Amino acid sequence: MQIGAHALPNPVILAPMAGITDAPVRRMAVRYGAGLVISEMVASEALLEGHPEMLLRAEGEGVPLHAVQIAGNDPRLMAEAARIAEAAGAGLIDINMGCPAKRVTTGAAGAALLRDLPLARAILEAVRGAVGVPVTVKTRLGWDERASTAVELARMAQACGLAMVTVHGRTRCQFYTGRADWAAIRAVKQAVSLPVVANGDVVSTADGPAILAASGADGVMIGRGAQGRPWFPGRVAQAIAGHRVAENPPLGEQRDVLLELYDGWLGFYGTALGVRQARKHVGWALAAAVAGQSAGGRQGAPDDFIARWRSRLLVKEDPATVRAGIADAFDELMWRAAA
Ligand SMILES: Cc1cc2nc3c(=O)[nH]c(=O)nc-3n(C[C@H](O)[C@H](O)[C@H](O)COP(=O)(O)O)c2cc1C
Repeated sequence: MQIGAHALPNPVILAPMAGITDAPVRRMAVRYGAGLVISEMVASEALLEGHPEMLLRAEGEGVPLHAVQIAGNDPRLMAEAARIAEAAGAGLIDINMGCPAKRVTTGAAGAALLRDLPLARAILEAVRGAVGVPVTVKTRLGWDERASTAVELARMAQACGLAMVTVHGRTRCQFYTGRADWAAIRAVKQAVSLPVVANGDVVSTADGPAILAASGADGVMIGRGAQGRPWFPGRVAQAIAGHRVAENPPLGEQRDVLLELYDGWLGFYGTALGVRQARKHVGWALAAAVAGQSAGGRQGAPDDFIARWRSRLLVKEDPATVRAGIADAFDELMWRAAA
């Protein structure tokens, strides 16, 4: 898939997820074959103010294409934020027009822009005009089921010179409930010649080819399916290329990935914040490991496995204790799988 001047190695993109797909996760996803990773949403004003958390979110070190997602509702500030990101090395700017969170939409940003297309257009034009790198937009089907605004927004994006549109197959009012409507994304694909990326509920490698077939889209974006599984986008890419591929690597490799990420978070955030930031990921990684084992029909973990290890690991402050505990938890799983 081609985004402006950038030819992606494959059409599978790790979704921006605030507080989750941070720089260590993005680097790992790339190492495992994600075609593109996009930074967590960065509030334009906070980026302009040089807010340290936003600078961390926008970090692009160690990935081949540094893509920064910006959010906001003021065309001038968003243009300025895009310029700052480009000057800091971003090779792609993505605009958030899909976030359903109240604190974002009541500021008339994110998915709220689906209810104000003139303002959405002003933002697309301003950001496009501010930078030389390709600009893309991520949105939802519409605000509610009565308005399928994504088609109109995609046409507008094309007219403004954007390079790609990603559509999450839900409306804003659905938040994350129900199933993503992959087929509804087809109307967007048919309306524009830009690359269209389909997003929502891709959780198995088989879902990769399936969402492309249902939507006619050029690429796939994966969010929650990659939580605790940074290898997952790369595996979906292989499935799309027609290869047979296991859903997860062996448990020993999963453990090594988590331990490497753990050190990555401590280095990236500093020990105190890193330990806390890592906790949810450790929980997801254990859950993913257990789910992968049961899906393979092997000797599953006992029902209390996740609760027991979560309560042991997720309260600890000492990194050495957490590392040792991660190794022990995976040992227990491997021992059961071999029994
Ligand atoms: C915790 C969380 C944080 C998210 N943060 C962002 C964000 O910063 N920017 C964005 O465009 N979408 C964000 N999303 C939406 C995802 O990128 C994606 O569109 C959505 O989760 C649907 O895809 P999935 O079913 O593969 O998870 C977030 C989703 C979740 C669950």
